Amino acid sequence: MPAMLAACAEAHPNIALIKYWGNRDHRINLPANSSISFNLDGLVTRTLVVFDPHLNQDRLVINGRERYREPLKRVQRILAWVREHSGKYLYAHVISVNNFPMEAGIASSASAFAALALAATKAAGMHLDERALSRLARLGSGSACRSVPDGFVEWRAGVRDEDSYAFTLFPPEYWDLWDCIAVVSAASKPYSSKEGHRFAETSPIQWARVTDAPRRLEWCRQALKNRDFQALAEVVELDAHLLHAVMQTSTPSLLYWEPATVALMHQVREWRKQGWNVAYTLDAGPNVHILCTSDFAMRVEQELQARPDVQQVLTARPGKGARLVPLDLCRDLFRQGNLPLPTDLL
Ligand code: PMV
Repeated sequence: MPAMLAACAEAHPNIALIKYWGNRDHRINLPANSSISFNLDGLVTRTLVVFDPHLNQDRLVINGRERYREPLKRVQRILAWVREHSGKYLYAHVISVNNFPMEAGIASSASAFAALALAATKAAGMHLDERALSRLARLGSGSACRSVPDGFVEWRAGVRDEDSYAFTLFPPEYWDLWDCIAVVSAASKPYSSKEGHRFAETSPIQWARVTDAPRRLEWCRQALKNRDFQALAEVVELDAHLLHAVMQTSTPSLLYWEPATVALMHQVREWRKQGWNVAYTLDAGPNVHILCTSDFAMRVEQELQARPDVQQVLTARPGKGARLVPLDLCRDLFRQGNLPLPTDLL
């Protein structure tokens, strides 16, 4: 009997310190500027891919629910690449679970496509190096390329597919930073980030954000290198404000801030005045990521939990990149996909 074409991988989402917004080429998610992030170790997506000669179409199951249309189409983009490059023209079951609430507005596409790229290539018998894997994950969602390498990561924008990939700047244990995520609204977004990247170029200040990006990137690299929290706080907040300024001034205008978002921004600045190592950043949503050094993490978490305008607090530290998971640890995923267990796992 031929070996089973199955593999399982997991990956973390990441939080950008210097943001990606807008593309030079939307087709392949070639970004307008380079970006820097770190992986969020507490939050994980685990994905099982099984290529199956008995299937007559691809299947996608996320958190126990079959998915069709747009999410399936995005997954099929990665599967199509894998089929073409491996020569294994088979349909696949893709069974994925997140340990963090998707409805909390924490983007799961980065961890999802990083885990999918690794699991699908491995299931098809391919061995991609980190750079090739990062490029493949990028096709699913730009920021997913940053969830492939370990720790603190830079995605060099590049000018074509081959040179647009992410790499590790520093390993996860280099700096014990925490991300305390204050979920202030779980309402679903009116536009996807895929649409948002297209709107970016309609903002009259996107060019200024992009032109100034090399300066902020270097500022951020230096702050990380020197573990200089004050410098990091300044550049991270500046970059988040530039991102939201572009969003707010694009057509259509994207205004993600809720009253609680702004209240938390003020609170973080107040804490910083009192000497706390805290800084905020925001993605395409109203939730506030509060970065802090480990000595302030407990205090920040407790303060956030006590606030009536915060619905939920999630915490994470710098994490590893995408990695394989032995199939015998994935029995629950086979079950969720109604798939028989491979004979050697019975
Ligand atoms: O990878 P996407 O298409 O989900 O875009 C991510 C965009 C931001 O989260 C707002 C910024 C970033 O660099 O992660």
